[in-house]
This record gives sequence, C-alpha cells and structure tokens, in this order.
Amino acid sequence: MSHCRLTSNPIKFFICILAIVSLSFNLTKSKAQSSTNSDSIQQKMQWFADAKLGIFIHWGIYAVNGIAESWSFHNKDISYADYMKQLNGFTANKYDPIAWADMIKKSGARYAVITTKHHDGVALWDTKESKLNVVVSTPAKRDLLAPFYQALKKNGIKAGAYFSLLDWSHPDYPGFLKDSSRYVLKNHPEKWTRFQSFLTNQLQEVMHNYQPDLIWFDGDWEHSAQEWDAVGIRKRLLANNPNLIINGRLMGYGDYETPEQNFPVTRPQFKWWELCMTTNNNWGYQQRDTAWKTPYEIISIFVDAVANGGNLLLDIGPKPDGTFPKEQVTILSELGKWNDRNGEAIFNQLGGIPQGHFYGPTTISKDSTTLYLFLQGKTSGPVMIKGLDTKIKEVTVLGNNTKLSHKIVGKISWSSVPGLVYIDVPTTVLDKYITVLKLTLDKPIKLYRGKGGL
Ligand code: GLC
Repeated sequence: MSHCRLTSNPIKFFICILAIVSLSFNLTKSKAQSSTNSDSIQQKMQWFADAKLGIFIHWGIYAVNGIAESWSFHNKDISYADYMKQLNGFTANKYDPIAWADMIKKSGARYAVITTKHHDGVALWDTKESKLNVVVSTPAKRDLLAPFYQALKKNGIKAGAYFSLLDWSHPDYPGFLKDSSRYVLKNHPEKWTRFQSFLTNQLQEVMHNYQPDLIWFDGDWEHSAQEWDAVGIRKRLLANNPNLIINGRLMGYGDYETPEQNFPVTRPQFKWWELCMTTNNNWGYQQRDTAWKTPYEIISIFVDAVANGGNLLLDIGPKPDGTFPKEQVTILSELGKWNDRNGEAIFNQLGGIPQGHFYGPTTISKDSTTLYLFLQGKTSGPVMIKGLDTKIKEVTVLGNNTKLSHKIVGKISWSSVPGLVYIDVPTTVLDKYITVLKLTLDKPIKLYRGKGGL
C-alpha cells in the first residue's frame, strides 16, 4: 500500500497517511484473527500455513504499453481513453495455461493467486456484469481464468483469486482519478447500492465459476468496513465455501495479514502472514523495468519470511501475449531447484527459534525435534549455536546428505547453562545459494535464554 507517495495534493496526502495508520491498526487488530482461535479456522488455515510459497500473477491490459497497473490513469500519467486503448493489444495469443501451471509447480509453490480484476475494472473472465472484460473487449476473446484454474487444480496447486474491491471504471463507483470523484458517496446512496450489488454479483461469478481456495482482496482503503459491508461480504463468501481463505485487505475482516514489498525486520506477531513481493519493481509486465532481483536475493527473502513464520507470495507479470520475461522464468526455475534440494526445511515446517541463538534464519519441525539452519551467502567454517539445551544426534547437509561433525565448547560441569555448539562446514558441501544444515535432536528442543552466570 504505497499509494500516499502517488498523491501530489498535501491534504489528500495527509488523509491518505491517516487512512493507512488506521488501516494498519485495523490489520493488527484483525477482527477475524482475534476471533479465529477456533479449531475450524485453524484447520482451514493449515494448508496455507504449510504452503510457504505462492505465486502472484498480475496480468492485465497495462502490460500492452508496459505501464503501471491501473494507477497510471488514476494518477494521470496517461489519459483514461489512452489507457483503455490497450484493450486492443491484449491478445493472449501465446497463452499456455498448462505451461504456466507447470512452471509454478516446478518452482515449488503450493498456491497461485491471479488478478481476476484489477482497479481498472477489466475482468479476465466473461463477466455478465460489464462489457469491460477480455472476452468482449479484447482480441483475447476468451475466458482466461478457467483453463488456468483447471491446470492449477490438476497439479494440486491451490487456486487464489485477486479481486479489486474498488473499480475505477465503474460509473457507479465514487472515485476515478486521484483528485476527482464522480460523486460524494453520502449524497448518492442509490449509486453506491448499485455498485455494491455489481460487486456482489461479480464476486459471486468468480466463486461460482472457479471455486477458488483463496480470495485475495485489494483496494479496500478507499472505504470503511461499514461502507463495503465487509461483514456481509465475508459472510456471503463463507456461506458459499466455509473453507475459503480470505486475505486481510477487507478492512480487517480477513484471515491473514499481507505486508507488501517491505520486509518485516522483527518477527510479525500475526498467526498467519504473507509477504507479497515483485521480482523487479513492478507488479505487471513493464519492459523498461530491469531491476530484477537475483535468484539468491529471492531465495534469501523467501527463507527469511518462512523463518519468521510467514509465506512469500512472489509476483510475476506476463506479457500481453501470455509469455513471461525470461528473467522471471529463470528466477522460478532456480527457486524450484533450490526447493528440490532444500524444501524439506521449508514446507510443512514452522518458523524458527528466536533470534540470538544462531546468526541466520532457522525453521523447526512441528514436533520440535529437528532444527534447520540456513547459511546465508557462502558461509563455511565453524558456525555457532548458543543456548541449545538439547543433545544433537546428527548434523547433515540437505541436498547432499553429508554428515558433519560438531563439538560442544565451554560447557561447565557444575552449571546448567548449555555450552556453545560449533559445527564445521566445509566449502565442498555448500549449496549454490543457501546451504541448509539439518540438526536431528534427541528430544524436543529446549533453549537456554538467560544472561549467562550460573
Ligand atoms: C497494491 C497496488 C496494486 C497491487 C497490489 C499487490 O495494493 O495498488 O496495484 O496489485 O498492491 O499487492
């Protein structure tokens, strides 16, 4: 939610900051999460907690000119008419949804979330609610979602639907350009009611046509929970599918939090969270954006999210013809190969031990008897663990199964404080990106977290 920098008017900027502050407050106190201690929510969220990696797909007409998704006309970088001319260039003529699903599967991701409709209102399916959809208004001329969701399901990948609550194209929506509104909401309740039923019907279409496992809302910041009828939206969706997972961007009525682009430094206290991040600097395809993150950077960001108890939703942006920039293909394939070697330490595990015991990310098995250490960069030589009060049975290197020796240093016989563990890591066992050490413990992990002394 980096929209404040996009607003040039200082009063609007201030209102926007206020909105974000109150939104973060809402998210932190997420109403759904505070009442979600029930077993059923826990059960419903289990696949998500175990999944760790999702692929986000921003596909829309903005890829034609390679400009910012929706924001480019909202912020007046381009006129609305010129923005909409991109409809004519959206061909999807090399779109291969089976290959998409295959690429996602090979990356190791367990779920994928695609933009069914961004803030520009252009639907990727044949919505009966508006002509602004790729079937009627673009040369693609077909429902692009159905075959993709089918391919995902065939591959056992959970299906997510990104859906923008706000719709800057809809004539009954009270917002259009950054500094102009079509009407003041309270003066035209009938328009808002019409918009709400449009929104409800489109959502219903998405639910009915594709039966997604997850709904990923966006754009909630323009209205209050009450105006959106967040409670009603949530209720209707869950009546449709009680197992549906709803992200947090429903003014706090979702199931999990969604920090965006910015990496949390301290461990988020949310039960479930997901960092969404781009592979370069933009969500959609932009030819001029060459600020690609390297596979190493992506893998280390992924590991850090998981070690902090979260997921990574990694974004890719297909071109208008449905092919991907080669850099994104490389990132996904390198990530996949790393997961093939090291995924044991990631999928179905838990975020690791508190910082301070080991200078790097860690994860731990659900029964607490296996600890995984991630060696950032090309760390080799003796690595140290402090305060580990459980005996290590064995240390192995994931991917090549080499057994490593370790020694306990400075254990004082008369003190209950555990000694330091040193594990010798030779350069010959190092992974191309991040090496993982698997420590098999003889009991569930116990940590000493004191200040030394006796
Ligand atoms: C922001 C942007 C939007 C993007 C989304 C992804 O909310 O408005 O363009 O789709 O983030 O998280």
